[in-house]
Amino acid sequence: MSSVLYRKVVKNFGALNVLRSLDLAVPDHKFLALLGPSGCGKTTALRILAGLDMPTSGKVFIGERDVTRLQPRDRDIAMVFQSYALYPQMTVAENIGYPLWIRGTPDTARKAKIGEVAAILEIGHLLDRRPRQLSGGQRQRVALARAIVRDPAAFLMDEPLSNLDARLRLTMRGEIKRLCQRLSATTIYVTHDQVEALTMADLVGVMHGGDLQQMAPPIDIYDRPANRFVATFVGNPPMNILPVTLAEQGVMAGGRIVPLARARLTACRLAEIVEIGLRPEDCSIAQPGAPGALPGEIYVVEPMGNETLVNVRLDGGNVSVRAGRDFRGSVGENISVAFDAANACLFNSAGLTAVQRVNSNGREK
Ligand SMILES: Nc1ncnc2c1ncn2[C@@H]1O[C@H](COP(=O)(O)OP(=O)(O)OP(=O)(O)O)[C@@H](O)[C@H]1O
Ligand SMILES: [Mg+2]
Repeated sequence: MSSVLYRKVVKNFGALNVLRSLDLAVPDHKFLALLGPSGCGKTTALRILAGLDMPTSGKVFIGERDVTRLQPRDRDIAMVFQSYALYPQMTVAENIGYPLWIRGTPDTARKAKIGEVAAILEIGHLLDRRPRQLSGGQRQRVALARAIVRDPAAFLMDEPLSNLDARLRLTMRGEIKRLCQRLSATTIYVTHDQVEALTMADLVGVMHGGDLQQMAPPIDIYDRPANRFVATFVGNPPMNILPVTLAEQGVMAGGRIVPLARARLTACRLAEIVEIGLRPEDCSIAQPGAPGALPGEIYVVEPMGNETLVNVRLDGGNVSVRAGRDFRGSVGENISVAFDAANACLFNSAGLTAVQRVNSNGREK
């Protein structure tokens, strides 16, 4: 296994600038999830590392090796595509063994290795079938088996779960995580699903508009988002954002003064804060007129089984609140929304998180 490095990688398709100047380092053995909305350049970044596309400028390294100009077959990486890209005329065993066959691995060694990876992925009983005789989840496992069969320096996976139904996605999410941990493999996993990114990865890289917005462990991406984009892209329901103006003792939000500790208030002044961000689980529903809470009315109530999502209309916008499973309330009812301002992120006019939350989701930082 090896580390992976992108250095100032730019990619243009004609006039379209897809990667602006991507700098990204994945340490050896780490699992990086590259997360971002559709069209932000995730697949393009993977294809450049795989050698399927050339960068307009910049370099990519695998381990110490500059592989920018190497042919895909000389890069020692394996890619799992969204479509699986299995060969329909070959059996499962032939599909899995194909990378070894290309390499000229002798028959006995090849068969042994096919048996070994098929056992890891629990598809040993399917080896004589053709891809069309398999379910989506089984095809997925064959594609993974073909990727791991030759112990590559790094794995690249492009939305490998997107063709599966919701339940199977959940199972395979755990399976792929276990597999990568077992192989201790350097992995770049592309997804636009923030839950996949947060649950599977050691590191999450959030991309938007051709730039890497933030790269950090999942909990830091969630608790300490670098900017408004990351704050609202990660988390479901997303972080609530309200406009604020600075006041004497705190900030004015939702028609009330939200008091802030002196140091925080000074930081807000210096940074010229314009918005406040609050996670739905950091807000709670309070009685109308509760001191310090923002007045509003219930807009929608969504019971989820284990909890209730309450959307509340405030002066300045709607906010989502995670309430208990036994929450009862009716649309139009007057209530208020309480929160601890120490849990808020505060954004400046450039959308950067100029003042971070004090508490880290229950953990003191
Ligand atoms: N070969 C190409 N020629 C021209 N434009 C391209 C080409 N490949 C990709 N693009 C454009 O580059 C941008 C990024 O595409 P890319 O496939 O990397 O996005 P993505 O982040 O993987 O999106 P998705 O989540 O939808 O898969 C898109 O606007 C796309 O239309
Ligand atoms: Mg893509």
